[in-house]
Amino acid sequence: MSRVTNAIKERLPAPIVNALHTYRRRSTLRAFAGLSTKDVFTKIYEDRVWGGVGDAEQKYFSGSGSRDTAVETYVNAVRKFVQSLDRKPDVVDLGCGDFHVGSRVRPLCARYVACDIVDSLITSNVEKYKALDVDFRTLDFTQDELPPGDVVFVRQVLQHLSNAEIARTVHKIPERYRYLVLTEHVPPEPFAHNLDKSPGPDNRLAIHSGIVLTSAPFNMAVREKTTLCEVQEWGGIIRTIVYRF
Ligand SMILES: C[S@@+](CC[C@H](N)C(=O)[O-])C[C@H]1O[C@@H](n2cnc3c(N)ncnc32)[C@H](O)[C@@H]1O
Repeated sequence: MSRVTNAIKERLPAPIVNALHTYRRRSTLRAFAGLSTKDVFTKIYEDRVWGGVGDAEQKYFSGSGSRDTAVETYVNAVRKFVQSLDRKPDVVDLGCGDFHVGSRVRPLCARYVACDIVDSLITSNVEKYKALDVDFRTLDFTQDELPPGDVVFVRQVLQHLSNAEIARTVHKIPERYRYLVLTEHVPPEPFAHNLDKSPGPDNRLAIHSGIVLTSAPFNMAVREKTTLCEVQEWGGIIRTIVYRF
């Protein structure tokens, strides 16, 4: 955003700035209405909705939560968790995106399967990360069988999906893995758990809600829940929790 635009924004009254944000959000979301989930995420990357505009090197960009301090804090917390296990785990990364984050976690693990719903993104990751010994797969985790492993990572993925899609996935996770490492962008407490939305580039922050899998309607049963790390971003918190089944 230009300095002039910023200067104008700073002088506008808050209700007008909020109305402009709401208008912009609605018009962005209209472009995704009626698309299948695969087409939604393919379009997000093609149109660079999550950023990376003007960076020819960076054809796929999974958003600001996949960069900056959020990543350092996350990788350090995941390292501690992985090192607390009795051996390097076999892992599955559902919704691996541009793999900027996954590439940092990969050396901490034994077998690494990384999945995403966007075919061209997976093709690009196979080439870009060929030195890292990762089994990249195109897969829709809401429909397809999940690859086996000890730990499943789901980082800033469910926040973009509808409750029906999450519900189709949640029951498969405790059957398949010993641990779920879940990262979600949530508003400051207190907030409404699990309000519904359509699949899209936005999350539930605008409706003051966030995903909590142990609450209704998902009611995921867990043996243990530990918060690994939290980072403040965009007026909310990027929170990572480990669930043990
Ligand atoms: C915001 S990005 C996060 C990427 C990565 N986990 C990270 O933290 O950088 C969300 C990713 O989830 C993928 N995704 C969404 N729904 C999916 C589904 N049903 N099956 C597999 N991947 C999905 C999207 O294509 C996108 O790459």
